[in-house]
Amino acid sequence: MISTTKYTTLMNIFVLTALLSLFISSTTSFIVPHTTRVRAVARAVVRSNVPLQQPLQPLAASDTSNADVDVETLESVLMKVNSMGAVGMSKVESASTSEEVERVRLDYLGKKGQITKVMSLMRTLNADDKKALGAAVNEVKQKMEDVLSTKKDAVVNEELLAEMESERVDVTMPGISSRGVGHRHPLSMIIERATDTFVKLGYDTVTELEDSPEIESDYYCFEALNCPPDHPARDMQDSFYLTDPDGPEETYMLRTHTSAVQIHQMEKRKPPFRIVAPGRVYRRDDIDATHSMIFHQIEILAIEEKGKLTLGDLKGTVEYFLKQMFGPTIEVRFRGSFFPFTEPSMEVDVKFKGKWLEVLGCGMVDPRVLEKAGIDPEKFGGFAAGFGAERFAMVIHGISDIREFYNGDNRFLEQFPHFGDQGITAFLEGRVAEKKEENAAGAEEKQKKKKAEGGSAAQAAPASAEIDISKLDIRVGTVVKAWKHEEAEKLYCEEIDIGEDEPRLICSGLRNHMGLEELEGKRVLVLANLKARKMVGVPSHGMVLCAFTDDDSEVKLVEPAEGAPNGARVTVEGFEGEPATENQILKKKMLDKIMPKLKVNGDGVVAWDGVPLATEQGVVKSTMPGCSVG
Ligand code: DAH
Repeated sequence: MISTTKYTTLMNIFVLTALLSLFISSTTSFIVPHTTRVRAVARAVVRSNVPLQQPLQPLAASDTSNADVDVETLESVLMKVNSMGAVGMSKVESASTSEEVERVRLDYLGKKGQITKVMSLMRTLNADDKKALGAAVNEVKQKMEDVLSTKKDAVVNEELLAEMESERVDVTMPGISSRGVGHRHPLSMIIERATDTFVKLGYDTVTELEDSPEIESDYYCFEALNCPPDHPARDMQDSFYLTDPDGPEETYMLRTHTSAVQIHQMEKRKPPFRIVAPGRVYRRDDIDATHSMIFHQIEILAIEEKGKLTLGDLKGTVEYFLKQMFGPTIEVRFRGSFFPFTEPSMEVDVKFKGKWLEVLGCGMVDPRVLEKAGIDPEKFGGFAAGFGAERFAMVIHGISDIREFYNGDNRFLEQFPHFGDQGITAFLEGRVAEKKEENAAGAEEKQKKKKAEGGSAAQAAPASAEIDISKLDIRVGTVVKAWKHEEAEKLYCEEIDIGEDEPRLICSGLRNHMGLEELEGKRVLVLANLKARKMVGVPSHGMVLCAFTDDDSEVKLVEPAEGAPNGARVTVEGFEGEPATENQILKKKMLDKIMPKLKVNGDGVVAWDGVPLATEQGVVKSTMPGCSVG
């Protein structure tokens, strides 16, 4: 028997030496009587012949029967624990993947691992033995954890490097793709070409959201551009409002044009400056082959010291730009026009396939716009221009339907030459896809045929045949009720039945020309597809057609033939087109082109360009021959 003290000392020495000689596996046995429990533990090792790295199995605490048979001592057990650790660590060393490392960890330190199991013997030991075995096991465990962690870092790192190596892409290798190489959208090509042209002329590109927002206040979209709330020019740009346009608070809308960017830039920059701003714009339009609610515009603005930039500079710039876009031989025409924010203003046409096509609006910046944006019009001045990218792309590539741009149909997109602006370059060099030439030829042929079939009335139609009387939706109506406008002394208000569910409320200037009793119950013609607008506070939707002398001294109603029912459409032979939708019609331009040709002829018959207006029941007449209608 050895004393506890002696045993403890011995054990301490042993633990130290054992840790230093981890790789020494001992089979030494001592015949030393010891505490029953330790003996029992040791005996278990011997009896079951458990391999060293296997967990030790405790015997029942009461089993003291073999107290003096050959049993291993605590020292021997400790040695084996150390040896177990040594084997484990050598396994860690030889592991070459993170999986193998993990397997060794679980095998030794996992819940059912060898070391963990040895630890579970603790509860069967006395305090001293516990301490001894615990310290030894902990030390082995700690060492093993360190080695595992170092090894794990190393293998994970190696694995990562191997993975990166295996995934390395040689960017210089030729691409293999079954989908082919993509290319620029025809609209992008136009926008880039246009923007680049101005950049070459010293313009800064403005595309940042804060400088070119698509949601605008009424102020930036209209008011600051010299377009106050009742300005008729607003009718041409029907908007998507986000807040109530008639409400008390500030109105917000999707911008109808990129001209709003002008104001942001004037507020932000100090002249001189030149900017080019491409962007998306929105208008409340019915979608068809030539109208889209979303499209793209490009705006330019150049401001310098007053007098430095002239109309000549503007014309030179625009002409240079158009030649870059359409080729050096393109014919360009400037026409006087009106925009609220420029004075003078011009519209610009190019001659394409024998026709003048309007492509751009421009002018010298109105001093009031400069002033509003904080630029002194006494010191500075300049010019501005704006145009639609879709229009350019349609003309250049012979595209007849604007919707094609947004469908994302590859069959459409693939028609355009690949890369950069080659689409336009190809066009300029006369290399436009043959197919498109064919299409254009086909369309021309069709148009010629239509003309030939159209008879005399059709020949009277304008070359474009786009703007004609059929755009107006003229309907037969009956005045149901009429009264004096409360606020405007020249206006009547009328309720007119034009065959719709509800009668139309229309304000007219007939108050100077006839009494209420003359008006009520009268059969009239109503121009129905006008935009509703407030007339001194009363919302008026439509217009009553009248014959009037040039000086407006006499005004008479024009009337449909007997028997024409309310709502019947008034047509003009040879002009079979659909009326413009309400959102398209009041392009002022369109009305300006149509109305001057509307006359009462010598027989009192109302005619457009010499061709009578009629319903199925007969022609429209006025009691006042030889004057205008409006
Ligand atoms: N903003 C105009 C439109 O959308 C186009 C335009 C005309 C822009 C004249 C301009 C300009 O800058 O000077 O119809």
